[in-house]
Amino acid sequence: MRKTPSTKVARDPHRRHRRAPPVASRPRAAVSAAVPPRMPLAVVILAAGEGKRMKSALPKVLQPLAGRPLLKHVIDTARALKPAAVHVVYGHGGEQVRGALNDEGVSWILQQPRLGTGHAVQQAMPRIAADQLVLVLYGDVPLISRATLTRLLALAGPRALGLLTMRTDHPGGYGRIVRDARGRVVRIVEHQDANARELKLTECNTGVLAAPAGLLRKWLARLGNSNSQREYYLTDVIAMAVKDKIPVRPLIAPTLTEVLGVNDKAQLAYLETAWRQRSAHALMLAGVTVADPARLDVRGTLSHGADVFLDVNVVLAGRVVLGDGVRVGAGCIIRDSEIGAGTEVFPHCVIEDAAVGPGCLIGPFARLRPGARLARGVHIGNFVEVKNARVGDESKANHLAYVGDCELGKRVNIGAGTIIANYDGANKHRSVIGDDAHTGSNSVLVAPITVGAGATIGAGSTVTQEVPPGKLTVARARQQVIEGWKRPVKPRK
Ligand code: UD1
Ligand code: CA
Repeated sequence: MRKTPSTKVARDPHRRHRRAPPVASRPRAAVSAAVPPRMPLAVVILAAGEGKRMKSALPKVLQPLAGRPLLKHVIDTARALKPAAVHVVYGHGGEQVRGALNDEGVSWILQQPRLGTGHAVQQAMPRIAADQLVLVLYGDVPLISRATLTRLLALAGPRALGLLTMRTDHPGGYGRIVRDARGRVVRIVEHQDANARELKLTECNTGVLAAPAGLLRKWLARLGNSNSQREYYLTDVIAMAVKDKIPVRPLIAPTLTEVLGVNDKAQLAYLETAWRQRSAHALMLAGVTVADPARLDVRGTLSHGADVFLDVNVVLAGRVVLGDGVRVGAGCIIRDSEIGAGTEVFPHCVIEDAAVGPGCLIGPFARLRPGARLARGVHIGNFVEVKNARVGDESKANHLAYVGDCELGKRVNIGAGTIIANYDGANKHRSVIGDDAHTGSNSVLVAPITVGAGATIGAGSTVTQEVPPGKLTVARARQQVIEGWKRPVKPRK
């Protein structure tokens, strides 16, 4: 199939309505030439919180959003900034987190006990050189966008601090940004420590900031915990910077969703909805027809051709490739699979690790399991399961069949109820069925078996030996009629 353009899910919702300039006129090259070389970047992701409100055996930062752990979203976004290192501060009991994300190549730092956000960042500082820029992110704020972070980093430097803030009508719980009469940020006051006037402030701290490591190290060492929570607040470094005449440059987050944290399952679902809308929107702008953007879940990356149609309640997970004109019916789940041009998948199919060629008809209610490789024009109908099988051009299995561990030639017809019995209780055996072979309804092919080209197997046969080509093979008991037989009758009471 032809290579189709990849529509990676856009992660920045406010870019939606802005038309990207043509590639040639993009200012990227000009900007990077004008801006002085950036300081090496060290990202510190705070993830030591317990997440009790999730009420789950799975740690909070491992809860999946769009099929990926929350923390993985943050790590992926951090990586996109090309940092020198990504440090993850994790807490007591966080071995599960480390284990799950062990292949991420991040540096893990145990914070024990947990004495506040300032204390958490302090744990990472021994691994960060003084000439680096430190970007603090939260492991439970998954949708932070690369675009916003790039803007924030541009505000920070060897003698400047970048602070990401947000405006909200519901500031309850957040640290408030205190500005002076000239609008300069002077400090952050935590909700618990704020007076009545400060509580009315609606600009809040997102927790995300960028600061030069040398100065940050110095400020962190001076933090105290004489506040209402007895914690070492990272937020106290803002007043220290101001005192040291280091400018604090605020950036107001362009959207709230990207700075929202996840504390409970309701907030998790809220961000999942935001993700769903965002990914569906990007796909529609890329030309995909989506029956209802509120009922499409893309939990991974989708590459697609032109004129793809996705009906309601479709879930696409992992890496999915859909060719030109592919139609996916309601309620289908497709994971890590490729579907060729012009193929129609009827409702309620489950397709995983499969490759479907062009012009096929799949379902309704078909299951393609790992290793299913269908060539061109194949029909797989209702209640048919295909696993680890190559199916040649224009072969059909239209009803109620199990097609596993086998090679099917071209134009093979698998009759309703055919089972390829591949498993003897210990081993799986492979079968080969030649071109134009037909298996009768309710036949059992006990593997390993070879069915010759053009062979026909009579309905209800159980074949255990080689089936010769071009002939009818019947392997069932002959029909008998028992003369004079009488049906037993119940004795009358
Ligand atoms: C913090 C900020 C507050 C801001 C809010 C945004 C401080 C003192 N307050 O509030 O101004 O409005 O975030 O959500 O920074 N964490 C650790 N170790 C700790 C404590 C926290 O790793 O010892 C992590 C948590 O896992 C979480 C993040 O830091 O990812 C923030 O902690 P949380 O308790 O949610 O924030 P607050 O302290 O309430
Ligand atoms: Ca707290």
